[in-house]
Amino acid sequence: MLVNRLLTGARARAPLQTSLLETWRLRGRTASSYSASSEPSKVRALIYGNHGDPAKVIQLKNLELTAVGGSDVHVRMLAAPVNPADINMIQGNYGLLPKLPAVGGNEGVGQVVAVGSSVSGLKPGDWVILASAGLGTWRTEAVFSEKALIQVPKDVPLQSAATLSVNPCTAYRMLMDFEQLQPGDSVIQNASNSGVGQAVIQIASALRLKTINVVRDRPDIRKLMDKLKDLGADYVLTEEELRMPETKTIFKDLPLPRLALNCVGGKSSTELLRHLAPGGTMVTYGGMAKQPVIASVSLLIFKDVKLRGFWLSQWKNNHSLDEFKEMILTLCNLIHQGQLTAPTCSEVALQDYQKALEASMKPFVSSKQILTM
Ligand SMILES: NC(=O)c1ccc[n+]([C@@H]2O[C@H](COP(=O)([O-])OP(=O)(O)OC[C@H]3O[C@@H](n4cnc5c(N)ncnc54)[C@H](OP(=O)(O)O)[C@@H]3O)[C@@H](O)[C@H]2O)c1
Repeated sequence: MLVNRLLTGARARAPLQTSLLETWRLRGRTASSYSASSEPSKVRALIYGNHGDPAKVIQLKNLELTAVGGSDVHVRMLAAPVNPADINMIQGNYGLLPKLPAVGGNEGVGQVVAVGSSVSGLKPGDWVILASAGLGTWRTEAVFSEKALIQVPKDVPLQSAATLSVNPCTAYRMLMDFEQLQPGDSVIQNASNSGVGQAVIQIASALRLKTINVVRDRPDIRKLMDKLKDLGADYVLTEEELRMPETKTIFKDLPLPRLALNCVGGKSSTELLRHLAPGGTMVTYGGMAKQPVIASVSLLIFKDVKLRGFWLSQWKNNHSLDEFKEMILTLCNLIHQGQLTAPTCSEVALQDYQKALEASMKPFVSSKQILTM
């Protein structure tokens, strides 16, 4: 089984109890629960009080550091990316919206500064990532509940740790959970240069799956194609090339894909479907073109293709924290083995957040903006 090749660690099952907002609200300081002495410190945070254009509603403000209860952990944030979901959340267009005012950002890596008296699994100096979305990572420091945190090895590169908990997990689940793929099978995807797309290429390559990767055309398309091939992509095509009849020659050497991963919607997803094997599955996990998925009636009737969706937050609701930790461990092993790297990133200091927000909303930037604290 493919899964056995990558999975390590225990399979214990326990309910995921992390509540979305429980850790970011201000609470009363309980000095006795704090294992290291600390004066109240000012936290710099990117906060929004209303939904709207991120460039207009996000402001850099001072926050009082949340008090540290017995089961809490004081974390100094090191780096946090700007993902499309963060932007959608600020715009008010996402499946999960924190109560306002809220701190932006859903993932990132931090270092433990101090722990409450009943915290047993973490100690000062450890690196941690967030187990849940909606906790607000675009800030210099925070106090989180221990159960909202997952420890990651400190020898994982900073950019990999900061971008580990969303995109690689999404790529991994989509490759594992929808079709029983075997080495040599093929997978087709669009938006292949996205954070998720780059993780799909690398994890699929580690699983000895072949990938057909579709990207939008651009002036420096050869450079992008070479970059994705260096990551392990077998074929890289533009949306236009995918529509050409010659593309079918690829399938002289490869089996038709049983899995298609759609991040775009509209015509792009219709093209993915056209190349899917009979009975295959297209998983939609993003809608970057903001257009509906259109599936031809004949494909549904004569090829019986399946249309599915994936949302990592929903997966986490239905699985235990231990299962999530097990996946993180598996992905860290791939990082250690040199089989999974961070997407191309640009580090931007927290105070230069406007630059990062602007770049993350522009087309063809092809570089994940990472706020550094
Ligand atoms: N369902 C889930 O659980 C889940 C988890 C993670 C991510 N996501 C979603 O997956 C998507 C990608 O996230 P990410 O962090 O990987 O993104 P990212 O690294 O910021 O990359 C965005 C990608 O979208 C492409 N794109 C933007 N507008 C497009 C359009 N109109 N038509 C075609 N492609 C377009 C970009 O292509 P260019 O380089 O050509 O501009 C780029 O490849 C987002 O929609 C995100 O919300 C979903």
